[in-house]
Amino acid sequence: MQTAPLFGAPEIAEDFRADAALVLHLGEAGAFTARLPDQSVDLILTSPPYNLGKDYERRLTLEAYLALQKPIIAELVRVLRQTGSLCWQVGNYVEDGEVFPLDIFYYGLFKQHGLQLRNRIIWHFRHGLHNTKRFSGRYETLLWFTKSDRYTFNLDAVRIAAKYPGKRHYKGKHVGKPSGNPKGKNPSDVWEILLDDWESAFWDIPNVKANHPEKTVHPCQFPVELAERCILALTETGQTVYDPFVGVGSTLIAALKHERRAIGCEREPTYVQIARERITAYHAGTLRLRPLGKPIYEPSGREKVAQTPEEWQAQESCE
Ligand SMILES: C[S@@+](CC[C@H](N)C(=O)[O-])C[C@H]1O[C@@H](n2cnc3c(N)ncnc32)[C@H](O)[C@@H]1O
Repeated sequence: MQTAPLFGAPEIAEDFRADAALVLHLGEAGAFTARLPDQSVDLILTSPPYNLGKDYERRLTLEAYLALQKPIIAELVRVLRQTGSLCWQVGNYVEDGEVFPLDIFYYGLFKQHGLQLRNRIIWHFRHGLHNTKRFSGRYETLLWFTKSDRYTFNLDAVRIAAKYPGKRHYKGKHVGKPSGNPKGKNPSDVWEILLDDWESAFWDIPNVKANHPEKTVHPCQFPVELAERCILALTETGQTVYDPFVGVGSTLIAALKHERRAIGCEREPTYVQIARERITAYHAGTLRLRPLGKPIYEPSGREKVAQTPEEWQAQESCE
């Protein structure tokens, strides 16, 4: 699965420059954002650290963690244009087995700045840890806020194919005419990539884990496809996308792919280096990316792994 860039490869600036099409900065999100001009960014799209004690973070109390995020959020709101959007993708913080959904805690921090929530999107994935003391977690959320009620929403850019495009109006003045939209349907706030099964339709972008073509050493990378959907829907070509916790650069690649200006900040040198390598590979046409909207693989039931092991079949017949 190779992707070639459609347009030229911009230089990767290491620090903010108003004329740079692509900035990848090694440093702290708070200090870097403080140096960006007021109202200079059209979309902030990020997944902040979840305070899970991953390699890149020191685990804090929930209160101390949120207190650290607060001044960064104030700076992010300042740099966001009046017509801009902010997408904040988080999962759960877990302490002694108790689950704290981070979006609930973040919601108030954004509301304090007058941001308006447009969607709370469920990002569902099928793989992950198998819990024994609670149901296994298979989704995270993405809060989409706008700074005002004048905002971009390009629905047509992210429509997905309808399951029954041949449906027709059966009464009224349009009787007999197709009832759907020829460009496809709204992907909804539960993110799905075309599934065969209508009943289990989720906005299902595979979690970036083993077997995913994009996987790097980063433990919490999100799929480029997830970022692409936000960028296409919430910005126009040539506008600026900023990820203050850019990890291995997934947001930057999505922005470049769709001709947006891109700014990223990351404090771990290893991840910045991987982000650089991924951007270079993208421009060389050698970066493996999962194509936007590619259907999720559905087992047919004939695969060995989809069948009940022989040992269990024997047990079942004894019972
Ligand atoms: C959840 S990950 C983001 C992963 C990213 N979405 C990707 O696809 O690679 C959060 C990232 O924020 C970085 N980080 C944590 N605190 C930071 C800070 N204060 N300033 C900049 N980066 C930070 C971490 O090193 C980590 O790579």
